[in-house]
Amino acid sequence: MSVDNLDDYIRSHIDPEGDYLHRLYRDTQLRLSYGQMACGHVQGRLLKMFTRMVQPRLAVELGTFSGYSALCIAEGLEDGAVLHTFEIYDEQEDFTRPWIEGSYYADKIRLHIGDALQLIPEMGLTDIDLAFVDADKRHYVDFYEMLLPRVRKGGFIIADNTLWYGHVVEEKTRESDQQTLGIKAFNDLLANDYRVEKVIVPVRDGLTIIRKK
Ligand SMILES: C[S@@+](CC[C@H](N)C(=O)[O-])C[C@H]1O[C@@H](n2cnc3c(N)ncnc32)[C@H](O)[C@@H]1O
Repeated sequence: MSVDNLDDYIRSHIDPEGDYLHRLYRDTQLRLSYGQMACGHVQGRLLKMFTRMVQPRLAVELGTFSGYSALCIAEGLEDGAVLHTFEIYDEQEDFTRPWIEGSYYADKIRLHIGDALQLIPEMGLTDIDLAFVDADKRHYVDFYEMLLPRVRKGGFIIADNTLWYGHVVEEKTRESDQQTLGIKAFNDLLANDYRVEKVIVPVRDGLTIIRKK
């Protein structure tokens, strides 16, 4: 059985993504460069399920892009809970804001345009229950160190792309490949970080689930 067959099998045996997300995913692929950055059906259902399990009151996302993962997290939020999602690329707003504001979950999502590394401390966000990190791979260590003191004890950080197309196992990484170096530095830091419990789940491009002790 090929990987494609298995992917089809998984997609047909889990919750459907629904018409709205299906249309958003298609629009993302048609109109945006690097459309493959959107997390898609399987990881989207996983994010919703994690959100259901954690039951956050306050969630943050670093890296909104077209809004696909933000909508999946919002779908899992209880009434009264909020997701703050941050996107640094201001030209992304014209595409993403209408998709978020036109959705069933608009009242649960606050979209902020700017650098999450700067905005989250400026906004004074603390007692975060769930953080999803999916922004610039070169700054994963900075995102993590900024977030950890702001996440409540027992709260979670989920970091995406932590296997980085398998490049993390390369013996030698070129100095110019700053994204691989960023992910490797993050994974190495976590491996010896006793402030947290962590596990890497090899779904899609690797998801690291981190729980603050
Ligand atoms: C992989 S995409 C996010 C995909 C989205 N989470 C999803 O799964 O549908 C990464 C996004 O992070 C944004 N980004 C990069 N660095 C950022 C930062 N420091 N703060 C906020 N957004 C950032 C990029 O512009 C890009 O749109």
